Amino acid sequence: MSETVILTGRVLCFDRSPFDGDPAGAARVEEAVAIAGGMIQATGARDILCAAHPGAELVDHGNRIILPGFVDAHAHYPQTAIIASWGKRLIDWLNTYTFPEEMRFADPAYAADIAALYLDLVTANGTTTVCSYCTIHPASADALFAEAQRRGMRLAAGKTCMDRDTAPEGLRDTAQSAYDDSRALIGRWHGIDRLTYAITPRFSPTSTPAQLDALGALWAEHPDCLMQTHLSEQTDEIDWVLGLYPEARDYLDTYERHGLLGERGLYGHAIHLTDRERARLRETGAALVHCPTSNTFIGSGLFDMDGLMAAGHRIALATDTGGGSSFSMLRTMAAAYEVGQLRGRALHAAELLWLATAGSAQTLHMGDRIGTIAPGMEADLIVLDPDATPALAQRTARAEDIWETLFATIMLGDDRCIAEVRIAGRVAGAGAG
Ligand code: GUN
Ligand code: ZN
Repeated sequence: MSETVILTGRVLCFDRSPFDGDPAGAARVEEAVAIAGGMIQATGARDILCAAHPGAELVDHGNRIILPGFVDAHAHYPQTAIIASWGKRLIDWLNTYTFPEEMRFADPAYAADIAALYLDLVTANGTTTVCSYCTIHPASADALFAEAQRRGMRLAAGKTCMDRDTAPEGLRDTAQSAYDDSRALIGRWHGIDRLTYAITPRFSPTSTPAQLDALGALWAEHPDCLMQTHLSEQTDEIDWVLGLYPEARDYLDTYERHGLLGERGLYGHAIHLTDRERARLRETGAALVHCPTSNTFIGSGLFDMDGLMAAGHRIALATDTGGGSSFSMLRTMAAAYEVGQLRGRALHAAELLWLATAGSAQTLHMGDRIGTIAPGMEADLIVLDPDATPALAQRTARAEDIWETLFATIMLGDDRCIAEVRIAGRVAGAGAG
C-alpha cells in the first residue's frame, strides 16, 4: 500500500481571511491535494501532483468539493441527548433539561457511551475538531479525551466547574476540587497526542469568586491551556450576574478581576456587550464564539458579527450543542447567515466557510495546524457532495461558480452532503482506532 494519497476534486484553499475584503478572492480552487503521514504534502494540478508522487493512491472525487474539516469552537457533548428540547429560555432551560441530564454523567460508563455517540455524530456532520464542555465529573472529561484519542482527533475540552448553590446539589464541586481535578486532567491530557485542555468555569453565576480565583491561578500556571466560559448570552442572565457580583463593573469584569481574561480565552455567545467589554475583549485578543442556532433557539439575541469583525475581534463559529439545535456546522453557517440578514449584513459563503474552519481554528490557537488546506497542515479533510439530495442537486445544477454551489449547500445541506471525512489522513469510520 502506497503511503501517499492524492485526492482530486475541487479543493478549496484559503490564502487569507475573506473578512479582509473581496471574499471570493480569499481562496483558490485547486484540482488535487496530496497527503501522507497524516499531513498535507501539496496542493495543485492533478498531473503535477501525480508526477511528483508516482505510486500514490489516487482517489477521484470528481466534482465534489474538498474542504478542511469543520471546527466547532463551543459545544457541550453531555447535552447530546437533550438537544432540541422545547420551550425554555436560558436559566429555565438549564434547570429543566441540562442539569438533570448532566447529573447522569456521574456514571463513567454513561459518559463513555455519550462521548462515543457524540463524536460519531459530529464526524458524520463533517466536524473534525470540537472544543467541548464536559460535566463537573472529571471522568466525563476522561471519557471524551480517551474517545478522541482513540480516533486520532484534534480536540479541546475541560471539566466544567460549578461550586455555587445556584447549581443543583449533585452538580457542584468546590474551589479546591475544581482546581485539583482540572490540574490533574491537564497533567493527563493536555498536549498529549492531538488533545488540548480548556479550563472551564461554566459561567459566573454558578461559580463563587473563590472558584474563579482558583481557576485564574490555574490558568496562570498553565498559560498554554485554553479557557472557555459563557458571557452575556441573555439580558436577565446579565442582571443575575451583576446581582451576584455587586463589585463587578460588568459581566466581563467578573472574569477579568479573577485572572480569567486573556488571548487563549473563549467567550461563548457575547451578544449583549458594553463598550468597555468590547474594548477589553479586543485589547486582550480574547475570542468571541458565535453560536447562532443556540441564540435563536433559546431566544438570546443577534450577535454583532459585522461590528465586532470590523473592530478587529477574533471570532469563532459554534453549534453550542445542545442549546444549539443542530450538530451540523452547515446548519450553523446557515443560521449565521440568517442572523446576519436580521442585522442587515449578508455574509458571503467564503466568510461562512472561513468562520467554520480557519477562523474557529485560529481562536483555538490551532490555526497553524488545522482549518486550512495547505502544505504542512494536518490532513483533517472532508468531501462535500453538492448533489447529495434532489433539492440540492436541482439548485446546484444552476450554480454559475463554486461560491453559488457552496452557498446553496450551506443553506440546503446536512450530513447527507458529507461524502467522506478524513482525520489525520485516514478515512473516519474505516477501521480507525
Ligand atoms: N450558560 C451556562 N451554561 C450554559 C449552557 O450549557 N448552554 C448555554 N447555551 N448557555 C449556558
Ligand atoms: Zn455553551
